[in-house]
Amino acid sequence: MSADSQELQELILADARRIYSEAVIDHAMAPRNVGVMQNAGAFARVTGPCGDTMEIWLKVNNDAIVDATFMTDGCGSSIASGSMVTEIAKGKSISEAQKMTQRDVLDALGGLPDESEHCALLAANTLQAAIRDYIATKREPWKRAYRKH
Ligand code: FES
Repeated sequence: MSADSQELQELILADARRIYSEAVIDHAMAPRNVGVMQNAGAFARVTGPCGDTMEIWLKVNNDAIVDATFMTDGCGSSIASGSMVTEIAKGKSISEAQKMTQRDVLDALGGLPDESEHCALLAANTLQAAIRDYIATKREPWKRAYRKH
């Protein structure tokens, strides 16, 4: 990287730090758990009122979430929220994860600007939809055949 582009990147980062927490910048720039999961135990796709979509895949073992991945076509805050919601869901039992809300995502991220808080809601809602998919397909495994992922 040239000295000029490094200087520019530092200026952009300094600007971002005035608006976003370190955790948001970190998860937006280096998101964890990105990608389509093969043979997932649960899947959900939710489109928020802003028009952006998030997808979450879960791998569940003995009613515990052992892996979680996400994809989104949304903004940087939605990338950070998808990254964080999958990070904090991993290792939780299904019943613990069912209690996770937008507030948990916001707290783990150190907050988001008011106008971006709905991005954390999209992540929490998508996780909850994936959990509902897990519960529904556990009861009625034939439903898996109709799943698009
Ligand atoms: Fe749509 Fe962030 S603006 S998810």
